[in-house]
Amino acid sequence: VDLGLAGKTAIITGSGGGIGAGIARLIASEGGNVVVTDIAGDKATEVAQSISDQGGRAIAVAVDVTDAQSVADLVAAAQEAFGGTDILVNNAGFTRDMRIAKMSEGDWDAVVDVILKGAFLCTKAALPSMVERKWGRVVNISSRAHLGNPGQANYSAAKAGIIGFTKAMALENGRYNITVNAVAPGIVETDAVRNLPHFDKIRENAERTIAIARMGRVEDVADAVVFLASERAAYITGDVLHVSGGRY
Ligand SMILES: NC(=O)c1ccc[n+]([C@@H]2O[C@H](COP(=O)([O-])OP(=O)(O)OC[C@H]3O[C@@H](n4cnc5c(N)ncnc54)[C@H](O)[C@@H]3O)[C@@H](O)[C@H]2O)c1
Repeated sequence: VDLGLAGKTAIITGSGGGIGAGIARLIASEGGNVVVTDIAGDKATEVAQSISDQGGRAIAVAVDVTDAQSVADLVAAAQEAFGGTDILVNNAGFTRDMRIAKMSEGDWDAVVDVILKGAFLCTKAALPSMVERKWGRVVNISSRAHLGNPGQANYSAAKAGIIGFTKAMALENGRYNITVNAVAPGIVETDAVRNLPHFDKIRENAERTIAIARMGRVEDVADAVVFLASERAAYITGDVLHVSGGRY
């Protein structure tokens, strides 16, 4: 199946590791140009270098998605290196889990800002190039947590919010041949999850309770994102694709 990604330029936020790096690698292997961006610039450089070493086209840019100037520089870097932006994957995000009684205003703001404000700033900055080309794809990384998880009021709210944002953007931009969708992963084995103190219990729980009796892999999520970012998903917009092994 030709995904039609050859020569397309994709910005993937938070792609210095984990799911974002997996998405960047897969788009590059399909012939896309990738802009690897992360607040951790050294991690972004490492991922971009390894993609280049394997014959892909990649640049690295250090970006804080919550900072409008930093995001403007990111889109300018994509323009300079590859002539514009066709695909944006809003993937940067993190958790700061706590019951609400102990959750500080700072914990709330940090998580909501990186997920929601980050997606807002990056989408606003990247859209003009897509509108000009009359072709574009935005894929927002939500989470199964949009259904609500105890100890994750901030994260659940932000991951549900990104779905509303996705639907509004889909309606605003469909006329330009731009689709906007969300992918909601279940539990995916990345360093962020592997480093949790109770990781063994999470894995055991996943094997016991998830229909596909294992944790998700980065590749499981990357496959779904790349499909939605491809020519093959031209008539899918405003939708949420769960990649959770059947866990709801
Ligand atoms: N791993 C899971 O189980 C899981 C499940 C559902 C959803 N998700 C979502 O998938 C996305 C990627 O998660 P991951 O597990 O690969 O985590 P990760 O920590 O490996 O990757 C997230 C990246 O975002 C970067 N980042 C953080 N703040 C940033 C900022 N302000 N600007 C730019 N980059 C920033 C981090 O440096 C990191 O490299 C996140 O949005 C996460 O919420 C993960």
